[in-house]
Amino acid sequence: MQRIKISFFDTKRYDREAFDAANKQFGYEITYLETKLNSCSAEMAKGADAICIFVNDRVDADVVRILEQHNIKLIVLRCAGYNNIDLQAAWKKIHVARVSAYSPNAIAEHAVSLLLTLTRHIHHAYNRVREGNFVLTGLVGRNLHEKTAGIIGTGKIGKITAEILKGFGMNIVAFDKFPDAAWAEKTGVAYMDIEKVCTKSDVISLHSPLTRETYHLINEDLLSLMKHDVCIINTGRGALIDTKALVSALKKRHIGGAALDVYEEEEDYFFEDWSGTAIEDDTLARLLTFPNVIITGHQAFLTHEALSAIAQTTLSNISGYVEHNILPNEICYNCEKGICMKKTMNRCW
Ligand code: NAI
Repeated sequence: MQRIKISFFDTKRYDREAFDAANKQFGYEITYLETKLNSCSAEMAKGADAICIFVNDRVDADVVRILEQHNIKLIVLRCAGYNNIDLQAAWKKIHVARVSAYSPNAIAEHAVSLLLTLTRHIHHAYNRVREGNFVLTGLVGRNLHEKTAGIIGTGKIGKITAEILKGFGMNIVAFDKFPDAAWAEKTGVAYMDIEKVCTKSDVISLHSPLTRETYHLINEDLLSLMKHDVCIINTGRGALIDTKALVSALKKRHIGGAALDVYEEEEDYFFEDWSGTAIEDDTLARLLTFPNVIITGHQAFLTHEALSAIAQTTLSNISGYVEHNILPNEICYNCEKGICMKKTMNRCW
């Protein structure tokens, strides 16, 4: 039997290691490309049966057209978020599947790491001590105990983040378009509207998906409602925050700080080494100048456990499609919330 060929876009060494290990069970012929997928690079998919992509690969109508010309019938995302796919353009042309959950704990733990780093000035302390400076002035932090954390998006990651923060003795308030009343009752979390969450919270952590509705969810208006020492944590997607409004709030010292694992224009910078070159993006460059801003380069998912689960589920999605004619974890334009309701039974179309 002919081996199934899969072209992987935008890969790094850690992807290759995790997928090579998982592929021992599947035996697919994998081509690892470093190039990101876009309308210029889509031709590179020629000859593949399926392609595998990541968060900053773009599938727009042009890319769908090129992939279709090369008879590609399946795109598998090795991530949970799918805001980079034009599902309407792909509908009934190319099936799309994602990894709906791999290790929500990995992302929640990273969000909490960012929060503690910010509130206890660990990023400054680390640099000082490395240079033999043990002075504590300027490092006075804040307790989390008995403060209020606002969780925006209480899905898998938001819930775990809330529960970890509850363990610190924080009060948890939350906003979600589809609140989970049973979970809220069990954990003592209070759902309220987003304005109230912003007014009451000392910490705000973002865990909703990026959709048309959530684009620039945290904008100038909501920032103006927040407490002056609020810490904003974003491990969701960059464009959940209007970054220019955030910079303006930071400049006015209106908010306490921000810790960001994602940035709305991250596509050109994140996952690449820019250390020897000037950063042309003035908003990103400005963010990097604030002492109360921490940025990590979209690494919340990056644990051994998560990479291994991502590889296993991605290859299982492919095997479901090519070997059994079903597509677990399908996402499509047609289904509620973009998640195919027939995912465990059959393909959507
Ligand atoms: P999930 O689907 O389990 O939860 C998302 C929650 O957001 C749901 O409860 C949903 O009802 C809620 N929601 C949907 N629309 C909303 C709206 N308009 N306003 C408020 N809430 C809304 O997703 P999960 O697994 O918790 O992931 C959340 C997001 O985290 C993903 O969409 C992805 O963008 C991001 N992510 C980031 C990673 C990183 O490495 N930084 C890794 C994995 C995910």
